[in-house]
Amino acid sequence: MRNLNQDTITQAVMARFADTPDPRLKDIINSLVRHLHAFAREVKLTEAEWMAGIEFLTRVGHITTDQRQEFILLSDTLGLSMLTVAMNNDKPAGCTEATVFGPFHVEGAPHYEHGDDVANGAAGQPCEVRGTVRGLGGEPVADAVIEVWQADAEGKYDVQREGLPAAQARGVLRSAADGRYHFKSILAEAYPIPDDGPVGDMLRATNRHPWRPAHLHFMIKAPGYETLITHVFRNHDRYLDSDAVFGVRQSLIADWVQQLDGHWLVEFDFVLAPLKSASRPL
Ligand code: BEZ
Ligand code: FE
Repeated sequence: MRNLNQDTITQAVMARFADTPDPRLKDIINSLVRHLHAFAREVKLTEAEWMAGIEFLTRVGHITTDQRQEFILLSDTLGLSMLTVAMNNDKPAGCTEATVFGPFHVEGAPHYEHGDDVANGAAGQPCEVRGTVRGLGGEPVADAVIEVWQADAEGKYDVQREGLPAAQARGVLRSAADGRYHFKSILAEAYPIPDDGPVGDMLRATNRHPWRPAHLHFMIKAPGYETLITHVFRNHDRYLDSDAVFGVRQSLIADWVQQLDGHWLVEFDFVLAPLKSASRPL
């Protein structure tokens, strides 16, 4: 095919994918071409702007390492991560809602017992976290694997600090026979997502801030139930309505109450969805 012009090229590119054996891949790539070309037409993309886009994505690639996933950060800040979570986690009413996973989960976090302190030296005001894990029918979920991770008082996750001898402010617990869980940690504080790379440049160029409202991350797994990946947010945080990654859901906001002795307490009950056959891949 020759002499393609701006009116004929989209169909020609899609035709080139006509023999794609995997029907899902064929659908996705055709849709990608259609939308990408429509985008270029809509904004009347100039050659200089096309090059600026290529250079931006190149920088996103160059800064990405095993420890830093700038592509996920880009997806998060464009709302694509949360859109994907929302589309794939349409749970029955009453179940705890899911939100973004984020880049700071670590496999193999230390295991703790009911009531233990997972802070392990992380800086922050003491905070106690407790509640239950239940199924939709109200049944306690015993022995659920509860992973929790959070940033410290300076807004840093342990993996963002070099040379730490052990994990801090993250751990794995199990719910008790009555579905209860309980651990100590530190008070979650609002923090900025990493903004010293191209995604940060994009935020600054568009007058956006990089802050996330204070939250705890949870991943809860139990046989017979959908894995839940979610947060618990702190009520009254100033960034609840402008989360840099669009992850806030009203149902995930809890009251964190300072106690007479100065430590904080947050209680949150999780409700797991029953397993469905096409579950969210992990
Ligand atoms: C987080 O909550 O850990 C997070 C989520 C998305 C981007 C950066 C951080
Ligand atoms: Fe986080």
